[in-house]
Amino acid sequence: MIISGKDLALRIKHDIAEKVKECEKKYGRVPHQVVILVGEDPASMSYVKSKGKDAEQVGFKGTTIRLPESTSEQELLDLIASLNADGGVDGILVQLPVPEHIDESKVIAAISHEKDVDGFHPLNVAALWQKNPCVNPCTPKGVIKMLEEAGVEIEGKRAVVIGRSNIVGLPMAKMLLDRNATVTVAHSRTRDLPEICRQADILVAAVGRLRFITEEMVAPGAVVIDVGVNRDPETGKLAGDVDYEHVAPKASVITPVPGGVGPMTRACLMENTLECFLSKMNRR
Ligand code: GUN
Repeated sequence: MIISGKDLALRIKHDIAEKVKECEKKYGRVPHQVVILVGEDPASMSYVKSKGKDAEQVGFKGTTIRLPESTSEQELLDLIASLNADGGVDGILVQLPVPEHIDESKVIAAISHEKDVDGFHPLNVAALWQKNPCVNPCTPKGVIKMLEEAGVEIEGKRAVVIGRSNIVGLPMAKMLLDRNATVTVAHSRTRDLPEICRQADILVAAVGRLRFITEEMVAPGAVVIDVGVNRDPETGKLAGDVDYEHVAPKASVITPVPGGVGPMTRACLMENTLECFLSKMNRR
């Protein structure tokens, strides 16, 4: 079974669009999402463009602010401060990575946690790890929705997450753990990785290496979630961390790249923006 993140994302965005129409009637305006990109990294430019398109599709007001690579840390922090103070802005996202002369952790902490649609602010991270209400990071949130959509039971399963980033691996592990899976967090250099992966009922690969997950690393019937986004140098096409051709026949459920986790991440970003907007309106 192949889980199409693309189809599920479309349905989620359709539901959000309906809710946005109600927002306009009830609150007199639609959610406003601001995406900031510093520099011209081609992958980041493409991601930011997609986020803008999604915002438009669901009926948000979407603003993309593109800043030159030479933008200073202070200039970026000042911009964030002004967006935090702006009552007409509901969600703020700074596309990562930022150029090296800017301290990423300062940028993440500068965004008001109430407008942090990525769920990266330390207060949102702490809330997730303390099981308090929070903005859930988009990629793991999307993966959980895909597992639910496919009817995959998480409770009682052995999950292996390869990757320990703040954006994906760690929150993914926590969200699986909170649904009563037993979770192993591994990384690309974990000793005996193939052996550990073969124990997984649910295998989540977030390594960023083309065809890193081979057929030998997957147990028959496993659920395989591919979070990788890589460029195949031979074909020039996007491909995941999983050797899809050889792994798919072995897996019970698998996500493709492209058209898998990526579109779901963006749909969840739209959902987070709507949630931030509604929390703000209901705090008044
Ligand atoms: N860069 C890669 N993934 C992400 C993401 O989910 N959010 C932001 N802000 N930057 C990213």
